[in-house]
Amino acid sequence: METLSRILIIDDEEIVIDSCLQILARGNFEIRTAQNGTLGLEMVEDFHPDLAFVDLKMPGISGFEVLEKIQEIDPAIVTIVITGFATINSAVEAMQLGAFDFLPKPFTPDELRLITQRGLEKRKLVLETLALRREKEMLREHFAAIVSHELKSPLAAVQQYLYSLSSELSPQMTEDQMRRFERIQTRIDELMKLIHTWLRAISVNIENIRENFQPTDIKVVISKAIESVEPHAVRKDISINSRVDDDIHPVLGDEGTLVEAVVNIAGNSVKYSPTGSIIQITVENQDDQVFISVIDQGIGIAKEDLPFIFEDFFTVSSDQQPEKGSGVGLALTRRIIEAHDGTIIAESELGKGSKFKILLPIYKNKPVEVTPIKKEPVNNI
Ligand SMILES: Nc1ncnc2c1ncn2[C@@H]1O[C@H](COP(=O)(O)OP(=O)(O)OP(=O)(O)O)[C@@H](O)[C@H]1O
Ligand SMILES: [Mg+2]
Repeated sequence: METLSRILIIDDEEIVIDSCLQILARGNFEIRTAQNGTLGLEMVEDFHPDLAFVDLKMPGISGFEVLEKIQEIDPAIVTIVITGFATINSAVEAMQLGAFDFLPKPFTPDELRLITQRGLEKRKLVLETLALRREKEMLREHFAAIVSHELKSPLAAVQQYLYSLSSELSPQMTEDQMRRFERIQTRIDELMKLIHTWLRAISVNIENIRENFQPTDIKVVISKAIESVEPHAVRKDISINSRVDDDIHPVLGDEGTLVEAVVNIAGNSVKYSPTGSIIQITVENQDDQVFISVIDQGIGIAKEDLPFIFEDFFTVSSDQQPEKGSGVGLALTRRIIEAHDGTIIAESELGKGSKFKILLPIYKNKPVEVTPIKKEPVNNI
């Protein structure tokens, strides 16, 4: 049996509700109506609509507020704004609050049917995307279990036996036998490294990190990240200069994974930059976001490679690469940033250097206590 699509109409004008009910009466819909925002939101919770029409101008809580709340309750609900005062500004504002489309009053039956059909198609796409994402996360977890239990444990045992056997037998072994033994050990060590790479690639469980979100001080994140990549930079005589504005807003996040994200980016800058170069890390407030940028003077990334650098296991194959990587860091970093509702982009020019930009939404409710860190360059060698 075909399931009916659930439609909710929130509008204070009876005539609008009646005409919607009439026009949509012959479709495969289950329709509920509400004459104000408060009732509408209660129905969103009880009825779980696929599609919600929201009048922008209603007594009591406004349509804009209703839109915002629907997004909070279930961002997969497709919303369409109905309004008599259709202006570009209100349309843009409604879209920014997550509305899918805009229906100006008065509307014809065909306009309503068409927009309903498009809204439901959009809903189908949203649900399919969510299902795919869930499936991907499940595969990721399943893969993690297989890799760690079925591969890592037996291999660790083999590694252990080999070590003890080699120390036991080494007095009797010929040079050739020793060499072959070492080769076996090297191969096993490489396999172990590969397994750790896989485990690292799947280590971030988005739902888990979200559960631990707290107001987080980005200054601390940056200073911990710099501390972690500093030894590598010192070895290559690379200076890491940082400028973190004093009044940086806190973000709602998980400090550990945010440090990991910045370490991956700054670590790449160290890895893919020549000896004696400079890396600049800057943090500043930008409207409702915290903006972090990491700029290096390294080998850069070719235009054709740039779109792929955030994919799992992607590495650039070139003789210019000073160090070989496993292609996990940036994919992991993007997952971490997106779990924080942030964005990350890369700009680069081959041979000239790269710039990675992260934007994170600020935590608005209450400020956290901020501990000041050194403002001068952290590592000027
Ligand atoms: N700052 C940079 N300058 C030049 N190339 C870079 C830079 N950052 C990333 N890349 C390129 O993008 C690829 C993917 O980066 P990513 O950090 O995901 O993996 P990786 O550094 O190879 O390995 P790891 O998993 O150890 O981080 C790298 O292999 C490198 O070719
Ligand atoms: Mg890397």
